[in-house]
Amino acid sequence: MQLRKPQHLAALIGSALLCAAMITLSGCNLLETGWGYNKGYAPEQPLPFSHELHVGQNGLQCQYCHNQVERSTASNIPALSTCMNCHLVVKTDSPHIQKLRDAYDAGKSIEWTKVHMLPDHVKFNHAAHIAKGVNCQTCHGEIEKMEKVAQHSDLSMGWCVNCHRQPENKAPINCSTCHH
Ligand code: HEC
Ligand code: HEC
Ligand code: HEC
Ligand code: HEC
Ligand code: HEC
Repeated sequence: MQLRKPQHLAALIGSALLCAAMITLSGCNLLETGWGYNKGYAPEQPLPFSHELHVGQNGLQCQYCHNQVERSTASNIPALSTCMNCHLVVKTDSPHIQKLRDAYDAGKSIEWTKVHMLPDHVKFNHAAHIAKGVNCQTCHGEIEKMEKVAQHSDLSMGWCVNCHRQPENKAPINCSTCHH
């Protein structure tokens, strides 16, 4: 009786380990199936802000606007004051820019619709990737050609893990790296 309990426990732990090993060996295929998130998702935005125009044609750097990306887990959407560096004088006759100006004067912000969204149980960290020299475009595609941002990668677990596994990346693949 006293032996059976630990044996039972050992069997349980054994099968849990086997499961984990299977997941690991199969390249997380078990978890990959069908769980991609919204690839191609391109929601309407409150204003027709174009990366193609601002980055592609006017040559602005990503970090001019997303200026927290090297320091922070999240990459920020720029504050209106960043836009107004130019739009206090640029294209002020446009109704879109007037809308921007009205919000700015009223101390409000523009409610951009979020494009990329990981589930809450996943940890992501921009700064860690930027520090290792992973380009924005590797994950986000050719943003500088997009008039409207569309999600480029599926953001599935398989997508993350496959890149972490590449020997040259030396990125951790234990569960707690990415899960709370
Ligand atoms: C002039 C400011 C500006 C510049 C420069 C800029 N962005 Fe943005 N970006 C924005 C704004 C505003 C939004 C929110 C509206 C939208 O989604 O289009 C945004 C949204 C995004 C999103 C989607 C965020 C989400 O909701 O998931 C990504 C990804 C992104 N930018 C990447 C980039 C990359 C990569 C570059 C450089 C190649 C870049 N941006 C340059 C202003 C800028
Ligand atoms: C470095 C200067 C600069 C910054 C910063 C900037 N823009 Fe612009 N923006 C421009 C230029 C230049 C144009 C093109 C003007 C033209 O068509 O003559 C433009 C055009 C636009 C247009 C199209 C206007 C129309 O009706 O044709 C929108 C909308 C816009 N910007 C929104 C934004 C938003 C939102 C931000 C902040 C996230 C921003 N811009 C930041 C320079 C800038
Ligand atoms: C390794 C892949 C990867 C790289 C490299 C990367 N991003 Fe992201 N980005 C993501 C993921 C994943 C999300 C969704 C995060 C979430 O929902 O928590 C995201 C979200 C964003 C957002 C929306 C705000 C946020 O943090 O949720 C912006 C803006 C953004 N990225 C801009 C950039 C810019 C600019 C660069 C380059 C300087 C960049 N990203 C590099 C994967 C990446
Ligand atoms: C294109 C390749 C690539 C993709 C895609 C990618 N990563 Fe990474 N990731 C890396 C590299 C390289 C590092 C840096 C490893 C280091 O600092 O040694 C890293 C580091 C991290 C770290 C920090 C690890 C630590 O403790 O320092 C987290 C967390 C992370 N990634 C989560 C994710 C998640 C979640 C996804 C998918 C949504 C993802 N990554 C997609 C390449 C990638
Ligand atoms: C490099 C980052 C990364 C690592 C390492 C990782 N995961 Fe994930 N995991 C994700 C992302 C991103 C998602 C959400 C997207 C999806 O479901 O494919 C996810 C989703 C999941 C889900 C689905 C949850 C749901 O709500 O559907 C489970 C279960 C899971 N992971 C378990 C694990 C286990 C167990 C390990 C360790 C063997 C692990 N993950 C390692 C990034 C990672």
